[in-house]
Amino acid sequence: NIPPGPKPLPVVGNFGSLLVPPFLLKLFVRKAEEYEKQRASPLSPQVGLTDLSKVYGNVYSLFVGSQLVVVLNGYELIRDALSNHAEVFSDRPDIPLITILTKRKGIVFAPYGPIWRKQRKFCHMSLRNFGLGKLSLEPCIREGFAMVKAELLKRNQEAGGQGVDLTPLISNAVSNVISSISLGQRFHHQDEEFCTQMNLMAHGLEISMNSAALLINIFPWLYYVPCGVFKQLRQVERDITAFLKKIIARHRATLDPENPRDFIDMYLVEMLTQQKTGGSEEDGFSEDYLFYIIGDLFIAGTDTTTNSILWMVLYMCLHPDVQENVQREIDAVVGRGRLPSLTDKGTLPYTEATIMEVQRMSVVVPLAIPHMASKTTEFHGYTIPKGTVILPNLWSVHRDPTVWENPDDFNPSRFLDEQGQLLRKEYFIPFGIGRRVCMGEQLAKMELFLMFTSLMQAFTFRLPEGHQPLSMHGRFGLTLAPCRFSVCVTPR
Ligand code: HEM
Repeated sequence: NIPPGPKPLPVVGNFGSLLVPPFLLKLFVRKAEEYEKQRASPLSPQVGLTDLSKVYGNVYSLFVGSQLVVVLNGYELIRDALSNHAEVFSDRPDIPLITILTKRKGIVFAPYGPIWRKQRKFCHMSLRNFGLGKLSLEPCIREGFAMVKAELLKRNQEAGGQGVDLTPLISNAVSNVISSISLGQRFHHQDEEFCTQMNLMAHGLEISMNSAALLINIFPWLYYVPCGVFKQLRQVERDITAFLKKIIARHRATLDPENPRDFIDMYLVEMLTQQKTGGSEEDGFSEDYLFYIIGDLFIAGTDTTTNSILWMVLYMCLHPDVQENVQREIDAVVGRGRLPSLTDKGTLPYTEATIMEVQRMSVVVPLAIPHMASKTTEFHGYTIPKGTVILPNLWSVHRDPTVWENPDDFNPSRFLDEQGQLLRKEYFIPFGIGRRVCMGEQLAKMELFLMFTSLMQAFTFRLPEGHQPLSMHGRFGLTLAPCRFSVCVTPR
């Protein structure tokens, strides 16, 4: 009695019809622009998957090859699964390509259990320290913004009304925040080591998400094929490993346990403490684990935050009235003489509501990260067998007309009460819910607030004459990115 769903085809299941991998599309759709169009709108899996819930109900099933996948839609159901049935639905599936690359260590793809719990608790606590304590993040985000500002002004002038692609600038500033926290190093965007590292990560992700390397998930032996993308993937993996191992070794050699400089130091100190108190290797506190956790921080913390900021700018271009309201509020509360700071959070309700509304509309991680049922269980009248992949469709929650009035309309005021104060809504869940809820939520919120308010204080954004984004459903990849767009800026 598994949940109902569309009829699967032999061998491929529902893979071809719903979940078309972009690299396959690329083979058939030659023109880049056509390809972009195809990747948007009807082929955005989050939209198709939400539409299917209208046919099969809020719990339905699909097959990817022979793998049973259950899609959960709507807030009540997702909360019931991930909070009330957390012991069953908090595991992660064993996806061959990811398992090869991560060895299921670190946090994001680690199996649910005591090692994951200990590692996550430690990392969560360490990340919190960066926001509040002596290792404050604010100067780092400010420095990132200063770089964005200078570069944006320069490129805007050079572009002469054609518009500037903000992606590399924002991505650089966001990556630098993670670099500062984890590696204790900040880089200039022209720094060769930094660029090489970032290009490596981006290249590795592009290959893993968007090339024939995806076939490793069906035929794991392909990973060892000595040519093409498979060879490239192994090379990228080797290069990233060498880079991170070098940085960890440098930290070990210069460690002062009384004065941790960054996350790596804190982790090394924790390793020493565990050794002294008799903690075993089984607890996971080892350099090997540290290596995969740093990879997780970059992968989970860079694309998500970058794309959220890009969505914010895009929505401001499309809604100049909202942009003006935000600027008016920032001018009244912060003024122009200093940069916005975290202490302004709480006094800028309209601005915060705008950030939340962009996050609601864009849902940069629309299907969360796949979960897995760790044992066979009965759920809402259906049997969910052990090993079933569970996709919590966060997009469906944010577009649910039963909890949001006119969910497809962009309207920051929905997050404000009659006095203009911020309203918290429990079905606003861009960071997920339950035990696997985003570990970087607080950090991300700080970054989004500081970057967005600083950008709004300094510039007015608009799209170049006659330009419109291809679709507002975005481009599905590791996260949901806005379709490529350029902006013209006017300094304020
Ligand atoms: C997981 C959203 C930024 C670290 C997740 C999940 C979502 C999410 C939806 C999956 C929850 C689930 O599986 O049910 C976001 C958004 C971000 C953001 C929207 C930015 C706007 C960050 C940052 C970091 C981070 C900055 C760290 C530096 C993680 C980690 C996990 C995770 C480690 C895996 C947690 C686990 O499996 O226990 N995030 N995230 N995220 N996120 Fe984020």
